[in-house]
Amino acid sequence: MKRRIDSLIMRNRISGYSEYVNLIRENKEKYDEFMGYITINVSEFWRNADQWTILENKILPMVIKDNGIKVWSAACSTGDEPYSLAMLLADHLPISKIRIMATDLDKQVLLKAKSGIYSEKSLAGLPARYRNKYFVRKNDSSFEIVGDIKRCITFKEHDLLNANYPSCFDLIVCRNVLIYFTDEAKTAVFKRFNRSLNDGGILFLGSTEQILYPKEVGFAPISSFFYKKL
Ligand SMILES: C[S@@+](CC[C@H](N)C(=O)[O-])C[C@H]1O[C@@H](n2cnc3c(N)ncnc32)[C@H](O)[C@@H]1O
Repeated sequence: MKRRIDSLIMRNRISGYSEYVNLIRENKEKYDEFMGYITINVSEFWRNADQWTILENKILPMVIKDNGIKVWSAACSTGDEPYSLAMLLADHLPISKIRIMATDLDKQVLLKAKSGIYSEKSLAGLPARYRNKYFVRKNDSSFEIVGDIKRCITFKEHDLLNANYPSCFDLIVCRNVLIYFTDEAKTAVFKRFNRSLNDGGILFLGSTEQILYPKEVGFAPISSFFYKKL
C-alpha cells in the first residue's frame, strides 16, 4: 500500500504525505484517482473454482429456502463474483427468487459491473455452460451478460469500514478484501456480518481470510472458507 501511495505521490510531483492529503481533500478528481489506485480491483469469474464446488454441493442446500435466497456480495469489484453467483443459483432456483445485493467502495468498478460487459479473457475461468447460456457476443473482443441475470443483482456503493450494514441475508460472500484490513477492523467486520445474516446464514470468505477465533465473532466453521452464524 505504501509503495502504491508513494508512486502516486511521485507521479503527481508532490513533496510529501501532508501535501498529498491536502490535495485529495480539496480536489475531487485527485481523490477519485487515489481511490482507484489504492483499491485493488482484481477479480475474475469463478475465482478459485474448488470453492464454488463446495458452495454448490454443500452450502446451497443449507441456505436456499422455499421463497428463494438473499445474498450479499460485499466488495464485489467489477461484478464477476455476483454474476457468477447469479448463474450458479439459476441452476437451482427460478431467477425471480434470486436476490443479490453487490457492493463496493469504488464507484468506477461499480459502473463496469453494472454494464455487464467483459472481455473474453476475464471469462476464461467460467464453465463453458454458463458462458454459452448467459453471454452474448458484443464484438470481436467483448461479451455482455444477459438481462435476466443482470436483473437479479442490485449494485450499490458501500464502505465495509464505515457504513451501516444491510441485513436479512442468507449468504454473505466477501472475498479477497479483508486481507487488506487490520485484525481489529476484520473482527469488527465479522461481527457486523454476523448481525447482517439470518439465523443459520453462511459467510463465505476468500482463501487467505480464515477467521482465527470464529466463536468469538459468532460463527462456527463448516468447511474451508465457509462459516455458519451461531
Ligand atoms: C481484490 S477485489 C475482490 C473482488 C471479488 N470479491 C473477488 O474476490 O474477486 C477487492 C475489492 O474490495 C474493494 N474494497 C476495498 N476496500 C473496501 C471497503 N472498505 N469497503 C468495500 N469495498 C472495499 C475494492 O474496491 C475492490 O474492488
